[in-house]
This record gives sequence, structure tokens and C-alpha cells, in this order.
Amino acid sequence: MSVGRFISFEGIDGSGKSTQARLAAAHLERKGVDVVLTREPGGSPGAEEIRRLLVEGDPERWSAETEILLFTAARRDHLEKTILPALARGAVVITDRFADSTRVYQGAARGDLRQLVDQLHSAVIGRDPDLTFVIDMKPEDALRRGLARKSGEDRFEDMGLEFQIKLREGFLRLVGDAPDRCWLVDGARDAAVVAEEIASRLDAFL
Ligand code: TMP
Repeated sequence: MSVGRFISFEGIDGSGKSTQARLAAAHLERKGVDVVLTREPGGSPGAEEIRRLLVEGDPERWSAETEILLFTAARRDHLEKTILPALARGAVVITDRFADSTRVYQGAARGDLRQLVDQLHSAVIGRDPDLTFVIDMKPEDALRRGLARKSGEDRFEDMGLEFQIKLREGFLRLVGDAPDRCWLVDGARDAAVVAEEIASRLDAFL
């Protein structure tokens, strides 16, 4: 039985969610909390191998359907090998992206495949975070920031501004659909100010 707490960070590419996930984990560690910081796609050796297939290369490399299967396969391995064992020992798991990314990226922004996403989620994942921070940001600013990193993992950034605009709409809709779980954060502010808001929300939650 899971006794830990499961927290995710979501947002469009370049929104600053990875920085915020890291700062949130550091905040809890300073308080002596057992924290596991992880990410998707990835977070386990097998899922990290699948990650490379997904984030590198030609934007047209996979259809949206194939992507859903690959992201879900990676998530299942991440859940089995990293998340569930950590929750079982009572840790706080902080993940940089989880199933909401598939709902928004593949389910809404790349074809109307939300039903397939939901069916697969309930068949092989069946778990959502207890709390989700959605970092909101103007797509123009976020894309500039994301591409400036030149990480070599720009397959989704390379789909362009229109795509990022759709993604932002998708994330905002998601917050509206799950207001008890999702906490919307204005990511346009200084990173330290954003981190402070998140830390106090986390303290209240835990
Ligand atoms: P990252 O840049 O946040 O590490 O995520 C890698 C890319 O994968 C990012 O552009 C978002 C995308 N992605 C999806 O399209 N669907 C998913 O389910 C996940 C987890 C990520």
C-alpha cells in the first residue's frame, strides 16, 4: 500500500518546471524529508532508454498514437521501478512531468486522442499524483528559453509556437478539470519568488 506522497510538476517546454521541481525537492530535503526527485520520460534505467527515442530526432519520427504507447511504456517502468517502491517506504516523490503531459501533449495538442490516452492510463498506470503544480508561462517566452538551452532534446520544441500555444491551453483546461489536485503557478516571475510560493503550498499540503 502506498503511504508516501506523490507530487508532479507540469507545464510547457521552457516554463521553468524542472528548476522548480529541483528547488521544491531541495526545500523538503532541508526539512529532513525523504525525497525522491525524478522525471518523465525517464526516471528508471529502462524508461531513460525509451526517453531517447522520444525526445531526439525528427519531429515527424512517430505518430501521436505510437508516442502514446512509448510514453505509457516508459511510465509503467518508472512507476514499477522507482515511484511505487519510494511511496511504499513513505518517501515524497517529486516528478518532473507525469500522465498530465500525455493528456495534454498527445491527447489534445497532437490529434484528438484523449480517449486512447485515458483508456491506456486506466489499464496500465491507474495512478495520478496527489498534488500537481502547473507552471504557466507565455509560450513565446518559454519557447525562447527552451530552445536557448540547445539540449539536443528539442523534438517537441521544434514543433513550433502554434503547438506550444495549444499546449498552454491544454494545461489551463486541465487545471480547470482537476482543481482539487492541480495548483496553477505564474511562472513569469523570478524563480526564487515562484519557489517560495510552491514551498509554502507544499508545507501546507504535507
Ligand atoms: P522535458 O523537456 O520536460 O524533459 O520533456 C521531454 C519532452 O517530452 C517535452 O517536450 C514534453 C514531452 N512529453 C510528451 O509529449 N508526453 C509525455 O507524456 C511526457 C512525459 C513528455
